[in-house]
Amino acid sequence: MQAKTEARPVGIIGGTGLTTLSGLQIIGEQMVDTDWGEPSAPLVEGRLGEQPVVFLARHGNPHRIPPHQVNYRANLQALLRAGVRTVVGVNAVGGIHPAMGPAHVVVPDQLIDYTWGRASTFFEGELESVTHIDFTFPYDRDARQVLIDAAAGQGIQCSASGVYGATQGPRLETAAEIRRMERDGCDIVGMTGMPEAVLAAELGLRYVCLGLVVNWAAGKTDQIITMEEIQAAIDTGMSDVKVMLEQSVAG
Ligand code: HPA
Repeated sequence: MQAKTEARPVGIIGGTGLTTLSGLQIIGEQMVDTDWGEPSAPLVEGRLGEQPVVFLARHGNPHRIPPHQVNYRANLQALLRAGVRTVVGVNAVGGIHPAMGPAHVVVPDQLIDYTWGRASTFFEGELESVTHIDFTFPYDRDARQVLIDAAAGQGIQCSASGVYGATQGPRLETAAEIRRMERDGCDIVGMTGMPEAVLAAELGLRYVCLGLVVNWAAGKTDQIITMEEIQAAIDTGMSDVKVMLEQSVAG
């Protein structure tokens, strides 16, 4: 992803609230098999402006695969095989930082992984050597900047940094878990940021997260979290996400 058109398609992984991408001129759809099984949905190939794009619905279309059962390895390998080198992962998240309330957009620069039991590496089985990839900076700096500039250009309120805490789900967190995550330095919480980011890194893909806050995290208000409030924030905020994608990807 960059301001000028990249010959290779940009991959967009849509999450909750983004199972299709309006504005995408669809050229075709293909189900790709991978060494790790089937991805969540057929890859939708198209164009945003002049830029070729491959769109993948992380939870399937219709939305049916929970975060802990997404085949992240198949998804990333399918995008790689489709020629993608840059991936934007769109994630619905809960807001922990006081400035990151519902409908706010965040482009995190760091993450903490609290997930467990997920298939989180391509390096397993009969290996010739052991590989430890560098993961100091989990999100691509240049791709982040393109998204941040797109938000600024459109007058969209967007946090240009933040720490994404990836939890296992599918349940939401307890208030005490969120207090612990806050002490750890997390600003937002979501269930799909990992292992997607690390698998992208293992494949040498440039990866960036575009987080839409859809609720205050548990215990941040004295109310419980309802699906209605999440849907309302998606309805309000997803248009900003789409504008950022269109502006940054289409250039
Ligand atoms: N916690 C975890 N994942 C989420 C949340 C949350 O509060 N909101 C949206 N995805």
